[in-house]
Amino acid sequence: MDLQLAGKTAVVTGGSKGIGLAVVRLLLAEGMNVVSGSRTLTAELKETQAVAVIGDLSTPDGPRRLVGAAVDKFGGVDVLINNVGMGDHPEFVEGAVQSLADLPDSEWERTFNLHFYSALWATRAALPSLVQRGGVIVNVSSTAARDASTGPGNYSVAKAALNALTRVIALQYGPQGVRAITVSPGPVSTGTLTDPDGFIGQLAKRQGITHTELVEQMSATFAIPTQRISTPEEVAQLIAFAASPNNINGVDYLIDGGLVKAV
Ligand SMILES: NC(=O)c1ccc[n+]([C@@H]2O[C@H](COP(=O)([O-])OP(=O)(O)OC[C@H]3O[C@@H](n4cnc5c(N)ncnc54)[C@H](OP(=O)(O)O)[C@@H]3O)[C@@H](O)[C@H]2O)c1
Repeated sequence: MDLQLAGKTAVVTGGSKGIGLAVVRLLLAEGMNVVSGSRTLTAELKETQAVAVIGDLSTPDGPRRLVGAAVDKFGGVDVLINNVGMGDHPEFVEGAVQSLADLPDSEWERTFNLHFYSALWATRAALPSLVQRGGVIVNVSSTAARDASTGPGNYSVAKAALNALTRVIALQYGPQGVRAITVSPGPVSTGTLTDPDGFIGQLAKRQGITHTELVEQMSATFAIPTQRISTPEEVAQLIAFAASPNNINGVDYLIDGGLVKAV
């Protein structure tokens, strides 16, 4: 299926590994110009033809510089994928083990800066170009936005705000030809889950159990009907489809093997 993306320009936040890297690879294979933002240039990202902009996307300047680089290099932005998140920040571990009463404001701020404000800052920077080109924004959220039992409290709240941002963009900028869509994965086989130093590995250490024990506990709790987690490539396919020309706007697409069971 030709996704009609060839020749267009995409900005992908958090493109150095995990889901973002899979998106970078797929959009390049579709013939797009791709500009990726992350704090490090991994060997895997370096191997691709993407333009890598190194910087912290949890500060107002990071997303602005990233979008500015895409405009300077390719003349504008057609597709913005706000994927950045998780990473190595300890605030998710704290959000998973501490209650609302105990989790400090600083951890809420860090979580919101990375998962919500980063997307807002990138969106603001890209909107003039997106309006000019009839572009699209895909925000990568999580099942945790709909089912708070599937993620740390601070993370769930930040992702729910991101879902609401998608709706607001769709409403305000739909009439100007810009669409916005949320893609919400359940567990995905990225370093977040599989790396012993990733989020789940760190959480297991904090709880005094092994990585394997925590993964088994999660499998039992989530009871995913397909009995497996998603791959980054599967999530990237949904993101690329959402970004292709169509009339989908404002909605949230789950890719979770049936984890969220509410109708
Ligand atoms: N994996 C899952 O199970 C899962 C489930 C639901 C939703 N999600 C969502 O999917 C998205 C991607 O998750 P993932 O598992 O692929 O994460 P990941 O493997 O940890 O990758 C995160 C990406 O974000 C970048 N990043 C992190 N902090 C950054 C910062 N401050 N500034 C710039 N770049 C930063 C990382 O690059 P550097 O380290 O090089 O900066 C990396 O490219 C996130 O929004 C996450 O919430 C993931």
